[in-house]
Amino acid sequence: MALIIKVSAMDRLRIVGGQRLQGAVTISGAKNAALPQIAAALLSPHPLELTNLPDVTDVENMLGVVRLHGAEITRSAHAATIDTSAAVSKETSYDTVRKMRATVLVLAPLLARFGHARVSLPGGCAIGARPVDMHVAALTALGARIAIENGLIVASVPNGLTGTRIVLPSPSVGATETAMMAATAAKGETEILNAAREPEVADLAACLNAMGARIEGAGTHRILIAGYTNWHAARHDIIPDRIEAGTYAIAAAITGGQLELTHARLEHMASVVQLLEATGVSVWPGDRGLIVSRDRPLKAADLTTEPYPGFPTDLQAQFMALMCCAEGASLLRETIFENRFMHVPELMRLGANIKLQGTMALVRGGEKLHGAQVMATDLRASVSLVLAALISEGETIINRVYHLDRGYEQLDRKLRLCGADIERLGA
Ligand code: EPZ
Repeated sequence: MALIIKVSAMDRLRIVGGQRLQGAVTISGAKNAALPQIAAALLSPHPLELTNLPDVTDVENMLGVVRLHGAEITRSAHAATIDTSAAVSKETSYDTVRKMRATVLVLAPLLARFGHARVSLPGGCAIGARPVDMHVAALTALGARIAIENGLIVASVPNGLTGTRIVLPSPSVGATETAMMAATAAKGETEILNAAREPEVADLAACLNAMGARIEGAGTHRILIAGYTNWHAARHDIIPDRIEAGTYAIAAAITGGQLELTHARLEHMASVVQLLEATGVSVWPGDRGLIVSRDRPLKAADLTTEPYPGFPTDLQAQFMALMCCAEGASLLRETIFENRFMHVPELMRLGANIKLQGTMALVRGGEKLHGAQVMATDLRASVSLVLAALISEGETIINRVYHLDRGYEQLDRKLRLCGADIERLGA
């Protein structure tokens, strides 16, 4: 049975800073690859076995969503077999979607398989408004009829889906995934231009192809999907999590230690490795993954988040924590989400010197950080507080760590095994 985390909404982390991290960290499967692939299981009446699943609450929640639609799920350690032969398209409620906006990814599979779907609009979240207009536009281009009724996306396909050319206004990860999944059921070929190139998009295509789809070009700006898929039973191994790997790379860098990131893939992290090397961090391939080490003073470097292969927005908060300890000033520009600096006030409670102006943050490094009580607000902001606490003098208590459990498997255990003074406190 998979180790399902027993988390309480009131759990806290207690960290005493000052330890250099040494050792190896096993990088888990990518949450943002697993979520669309669990939704994609609804496309086919044949079982889909997913392996290398991370034990994180977002994955448990998404499995719960497909179960709501009638899927039978068999679990084992870090794996799940999803059988949707008896699935039906039910309403995916606001209560379900507001807990995890990625739930909106079930819209396309439900519509493609059953011809109709009712999924709540996600609404905003801590990091921004997060609209789904590009998802809706892509489905409409394929022939779906979509109305917004009382906060619900109500979709149907009166004449089925028909392959077409979809040009995304911007390379949205979710909209690319929605378009790709729907296009597998369309009559004729679909071309997606200005597609997102993230490895998680390419891994979804690999999973869909294992299930019987015929998709070419995923991972580039242009994706071609043949319609009329001949679905069959499939098994797919999920790629390692490049954001988790980047987080632990920064943990090694911020503590001046050395970690081997087992299973991490350099080819998914080129922009991250390049920027870390610019700050004086050393990165080289080990025989089990990537080795990250820092044995000299950290230099400040500027950062602009960009769609892949640029520097990922999901590592902006973590890099900011690193720059708090660097010599000099670092200018960070967040271009993907409109409100992704929630970690700044909390980092300042630890003594960081950060000035915000619109989408820019100016970090003046070199300040000694001191432990304090801080509050987690969203997944990646939370982990930036953990990173800062690792080098803060004294004790830091991080509240609401359920945010962390959404995307990091056993973070406290993985850090403790590398020498961090960290423990999880109950309510
Ligand atoms: C995915 O979110 C990831 N989530 C996010 O990770 C990640 O930060 C993001 O991609 C960018 O890389 C999953 O894969 C489950 P987008 P997604 O569509 O698909 C706007 C984490 O921490 N937009 O590429 O929602 C949107 O508001 C999470 O693991 C529209 O305007 O991201 C944002 O400003 C956080 N209309 C920008 O595009 C749309 O229809 C990029 O969003 C869709 C998106």
